[in-house]
Amino acid sequence: MDISNQQIEAIVKQVLSNLSGTGAATSSVSHASGPIPSKARVAMLTELGKMEVKEFPMPEVGDDDILVKVEGCGICGTDSHEYKRDPFGLIPVALGHEGTGEIVKLGKNVTKDSAGKDVHVGDKIVTCMIFKDNPDITMFDLNKKNVGGADVYGLLPDDGVHTNGWFADYILVRGALGSTFFNVSDLDLDSRILIEPCAVLVHAVERAKSTGILKFNSRVVVQGCGPIGLICVAVLKTMGVQNIITVDGNPARLEFSKKLGATDTVNFKDYSGIEDMAKGVESKFGGHLADFAFQCTGSPAGHSNIYKFVRNGGGLCELGFFINGGDATINPHFDICSKELTIVGSWVYTLRDYATTFDFLKGAKAIGLPISELITDKYPLSQVDEAFKKAAAQTGLKIAVVAD
Ligand SMILES: NC(=O)c1ccc[n+]([C@@H]2O[C@H](COP(=O)([O-])OP(=O)(O)OC[C@H]3O[C@@H](n4cnc5c(N)ncnc54)[C@H](O)[C@@H]3O)[C@@H](O)[C@H]2O)c1
Ligand SMILES: [Zn+2]
Repeated sequence: MDISNQQIEAIVKQVLSNLSGTGAATSSVSHASGPIPSKARVAMLTELGKMEVKEFPMPEVGDDDILVKVEGCGICGTDSHEYKRDPFGLIPVALGHEGTGEIVKLGKNVTKDSAGKDVHVGDKIVTCMIFKDNPDITMFDLNKKNVGGADVYGLLPDDGVHTNGWFADYILVRGALGSTFFNVSDLDLDSRILIEPCAVLVHAVERAKSTGILKFNSRVVVQGCGPIGLICVAVLKTMGVQNIITVDGNPARLEFSKKLGATDTVNFKDYSGIEDMAKGVESKFGGHLADFAFQCTGSPAGHSNIYKFVRNGGGLCELGFFINGGDATINPHFDICSKELTIVGSWVYTLRDYATTFDFLKGAKAIGLPISELITDKYPLSQVDEAFKKAAAQTGLKIAVVAD
């Protein structure tokens, strides 16, 4: 039997990898912890409304790569949009961008995270955006860019290696792509799963602060009590804002907003029209309209209404329209000009906001806000399709897929 040198090398590699229990090349790996299976399980969206757990060979870890054992990943509204309509045309795709897990293999060139913090096997990380045009992200750059225009793991085209989304048991963070990531070993699992949506609100509040109107003693309306509005309340409360009224039509969500820092609530179903509702807000603020309002619904009617809650000279932040949700009607004279309103829009976040989010999560915990209760349901990876159906039913808040 003729065996070439290349074949011998392949056989030796295979035997060595079986001995170490890894199944992946080890030459460029500086650390290894525990046995790693030879296959990775990845949940792929294979057709509209169908997530399938597939098995692929465990990827090789290059000198600039990180192999992560996934602990959990939240389902985002964007994932639900992909599941229902595939607006980005990515099918088949490994979804999941709100994920976190433990480093199990580290390429030898990877020594620091995107904030300059040391990383080792065993550390817990989250990924942030992938900069195609600027792979040299350092702490000094953290302010530079909004994530818009960049890629994220979990919304990348399938590339043959497959492990590029967080609904999986392993994900390969690829150095060559210009990935950014953070060592968040000092946060508990639930906090780590919530980092990405929380960064959206840290960014929105930073945008709001740029108006100069949002202050410690401001009266603030947060309209919409889905995960986004609820986290908005928690960020404001953690910052020290004391006077927050939430607006929604869902009594359970309104009630939960009080646990996260709302002082009072307005259920729009108790009012007949926006003028009446604005009077409700005014009376709950003791005869004043809001100094500032956050619009956290994807409803055009919600956008039209938000102006009526704000006093002359006040401000508002519109962040409810991550995607095009249609046009909204306003009265430019009454709503903007004669009110001398200051409006900011907010979309996703910067790298800097990620770093701030870690401090927010610790601060929220320190003042006893039950942030982890935002995760209402956890499904094992094997039940990822059920998890997506639960998210689509909108009967919980944040739905997470966790390691099984
Ligand atoms: N700016 C960003 O970067 C960004 C990021 C993520 C999500 N979003 C957007 O934020 C919005 C909220 O996200 P979510 O996950 O909390 O959604 P969600 O659907 O879970 O929550 C929306 C809430 O708004 C309430 N609501 C709907 N219409 C209302 C109205 N007219 N008045 C008062 N309340 C109303 C609903 O009852 C619900 O509780 C979504 O549209 C989402 O696309 C924006
Ligand atoms: Zn998200």
